[in-house]
Amino acid sequence: MTKTAWTRKDLVGLKDLSREEITLILDTAKSLQEVSTRPVKKVPTLRGRTVANMFFEPSTRTRISFELAEKRLSADTINFSAATSSTVKGESIKDTVRNIESLKVDIIVMRHPASGAPHRLAERLDVSFINAGDGINEHPTQALLDMFTIKEKKGTLEGVKVTFIGDILHSRVARSNIWGLTKMGAKVVVCGPKTLIPPKVEELGVEVIYDLYDAIKDADVINLLRIQMERQSECFFPSIREYANTYQINRKVLEVAKKDVVIMHPGPVNRGIEVSSDVMDGPSSVILDQVTNGLAVRMAVLYLLSGARKKIEG
Ligand code: CP
Repeated sequence: MTKTAWTRKDLVGLKDLSREEITLILDTAKSLQEVSTRPVKKVPTLRGRTVANMFFEPSTRTRISFELAEKRLSADTINFSAATSSTVKGESIKDTVRNIESLKVDIIVMRHPASGAPHRLAERLDVSFINAGDGINEHPTQALLDMFTIKEKKGTLEGVKVTFIGDILHSRVARSNIWGLTKMGAKVVVCGPKTLIPPKVEELGVEVIYDLYDAIKDADVINLLRIQMERQSECFFPSIREYANTYQINRKVLEVAKKDVVIMHPGPVNRGIEVSSDVMDGPSSVILDQVTNGLAVRMAVLYLLSGARKKIEG
């Protein structure tokens, strides 16, 4: 176990975290993993603490995973849904959050379509923030659970080759993974249509390979990304059918990959577009393991932030 102590009030991204801090979260998640295997899946660690889940965008995995993590740690939870809140009457996000903070909430888990929204609020308010996905910027707990899963399947992150395929340009998952994986010594490759690869992405320490077969042939992990139609205001490729013909991971394409390659996807999956059903449900896929591991990772983040709050509060 690493000796680094967690001192941050917030977790808004992996860009600013050190290798030691990432290791601390992954090690803490490992030790909390066992709680969910007990007959009584609950520990009193966050008893008396209140966590508000504020989702301004749809979510299945992240929202449910955070809520369950909070309950496993015995926190009180509040679920805020933008569609049924007074934000529809024109209340600003800052005023909304200040109202929640005045209820003596300790931690806010926030997903927001605007890149940087949790960062700006975290700087101005005393409550702790966990970024559950901000625009196209970061999705730190997704990248942490991805790294946790790679470590579980491959034994290490050091030197492991991880290839991301798809819409890198609009992917907060890719961005957080690039920050995290490169710090942990993994080799990162990105592959997709030229129009969906961010300019100068190589400056982040990743390799760009446009040809799918070249990109996957010596990959240890293939992490597939969804084409994010909701974030695309222009046409980035001719058609979904052409995208699937060129970039879909299916059994035939996988013939060039390593026998022990691991297939990952953060979800939600467009079945039959970025991945065929047989590969998604096949033996190389760890997509549901990622979801399972997300619970331990989110318990770890809540636990560490709660400990830091205790020190801040004295
Ligand atoms: N991976 C992920 O963020 O999924 P949700 O949008 O369902 O939370």
